[in-house]
Amino acid sequence: MAYSNLLIEMEDSVAWVYVNRPDKLNALNAQTLAELHAAFKTLAADSAVRVIVLTGAGPKAFVAGADIAQMHELSAIEGRDFSKAGQELMLFIERCGKPVLAMINGFALGGGLELAMACSIRIASSTAKLGQPEVNLGLIPGFGGSQRLVRLCGKAAALDLCLSGQPISAERALALNLITRMHTPESLPDETRKLAQHLANLAPLALRGVMDCIHYGSEAALDIGLDYESQTFGLMFATEDMRLGTDAFLQRKPATFKGK
Ligand code: COA
Repeated sequence: MAYSNLLIEMEDSVAWVYVNRPDKLNALNAQTLAELHAAFKTLAADSAVRVIVLTGAGPKAFVAGADIAQMHELSAIEGRDFSKAGQELMLFIERCGKPVLAMINGFALGGGLELAMACSIRIASSTAKLGQPEVNLGLIPGFGGSQRLVRLCGKAAALDLCLSGQPISAERALALNLITRMHTPESLPDETRKLAQHLANLAPLALRGVMDCIHYGSEAALDIGLDYESQTFGLMFATEDMRLGTDAFLQRKPATFKGK
């Protein structure tokens, strides 16, 4: 499928998805949301794709937010629908069953930070700026930011970022656990590539199991979450990859996982 606002490149089993509107700092308009949704559906269904890296085209921005020019024209109902479309996309990315790395190469503001928060791991350039500046526009986060920020960083940080609307540095984001890895702008692509390749060589069903337990289990009471973990743990024993992985360990050789 041809996309107007995305670039997709395959490197072995890693798909690199670029939001590609650099002249608008990769702002998310309705078309870009729809293209991202279609692209992630395709990549999630393709067994040749083991890891997805999501980033922004151009030197300045990951994504500088939802498209303000487009939002300016929306009615209340259209605004609600725009929010729903964004939330559905973020939920799909979060639950797509494959590790998605957000490579935050610059501004990740508003919908951009919400997009990054839907990814499995956030890796940022040391020069990146992150924030939820919607209040400066008389708005609030609409693509899940008020909910995922609390879950990732706690109520205090979520209130500070969403109320002040002030962006924070990558260093501060690291201290808040909003990102978990930070690199110089020069080394960011290679470090992200190394992590993506590392994950691509692991057992896909085990990675999916981990993500399922963390996403679904963390929303449940502890005993329900623990039971979910046991059920998922048990399920791993039905996979070829579990036999391969344990066998390879016992024979002191590397494992080549099949995703089965
Ligand atoms: N929506 C639509 N267009 C956006 C955008 C957004 N969220 N963010 C940036 N742009 C556009 C600008 O309008 C400008 O377009 P133009 O050249 O046609 O006028 C272009 O991208 C470059 O942005 P500019 O503001 O000139 O760059 P800058 O380096 O001076 O400032 C930012 C960078 C990120 C600080 C600034 O663009 C900004 O504050 N953006 C909005 C962030 C925001 O509030 N996001 C949340 C939206 S809910």
